[in-house]
Amino acid sequence: MKEQNPPVCDYEGSDYQTSFWEEGGRAYEDKAEEIALKRLLPKSGKLLLEIGAGAGRNTPRYVGYERIVLLDYSRTQLQQAQERLGENERYIYVAADAYRLPFVDGLFGGATMIRTLHHMKDAPAVLQQVRRVLQPASKFLLEYANKLNLKAILRYLLRRQDWSPFTPEQVEFVELNFDFHPKTIRKWLKEKDFKLERQLTLSHFRIDILKRLFPTSFLAWLDSLAQLTGDWWQLSPSVFTISEAIGDTEIASEGAFFQCPQCSHAPLQEEPEMLICPNCEAKYAIRNGIYDFREPL
Ligand SMILES: C[S@@+](CC[C@H](N)C(=O)[O-])C[C@H]1O[C@@H](n2cnc3c(N)ncnc32)[C@H](O)[C@@H]1O
Repeated sequence: MKEQNPPVCDYEGSDYQTSFWEEGGRAYEDKAEEIALKRLLPKSGKLLLEIGAGAGRNTPRYVGYERIVLLDYSRTQLQQAQERLGENERYIYVAADAYRLPFVDGLFGGATMIRTLHHMKDAPAVLQQVRRVLQPASKFLLEYANKLNLKAILRYLLRRQDWSPFTPEQVEFVELNFDFHPKTIRKWLKEKDFKLERQLTLSHFRIDILKRLFPTSFLAWLDSLAQLTGDWWQLSPSVFTISEAIGDTEIASEGAFFQCPQCSHAPLQEEPEMLICPNCEAKYAIRNGIYDFREPL
């Protein structure tokens, strides 16, 4: 029987890219992420997996990679990404659940996951999937929402917040939105065979009055300096980490790519409008340039 995955925070039909980023006054946070990505990502690579790619806000920043798989649970987010990024053979669009990645083991030379772990009720299960599809010695860039941030500490000390930012468990502040403790993230990365290499703290100045008073470029510049303290302490709302996949795991054989998310069989048989699993006979649609693994046809 098919195992039940944890619930998914569904962005189907959401205008997240426009309402949160383009009209939501978040130019400073976006710039801070651009700086951190430049600092942490390898300068070149073959195949990158972007988990929870959304509308592809960060995708153009992965300049050194030959091909990028944009994976998201939401088909409409991927359609928006297609519109934003235009026709480009470098991009492969995959609708799937991060708890059940539809790729063979050891396929990717790198992965990123930005503003997505905070929707994961079972984060270690997703980290295990990411490690499975990565080649040994490849890099994994993970962003997480930090419960141990200064605002949360202050609110807790002033008794305006009932959960403690100091304890290791994740906090679900809104349904399917989680903040994590940095120590817990480090523990999980280690358990899942990732060697943490560097941490950058981001968005130190995510305060409305500061954003109104100072130009975005100035705040981003200040943040770029503060980011560098990330290996010493993590007290900002967002943390970027880069880790290396360790262990003597396999590299996918030439030409292998998708595997069945239901029964893990590979290879899948490719027809013009669908992929078929010869083992369990599940069929997955290919519609308008999106491989759709959410559920079989
Ligand atoms: C907050 S958005 C971030 C999008 C993008 N990374 C960015 O920073 O602009 C989170 C994304 O994660 C996706 N997501 C949430 N749960 C998922 C899951 N279980 N599997 C795959 N994608 C998921 C959502 O559909 C959404 O597009």
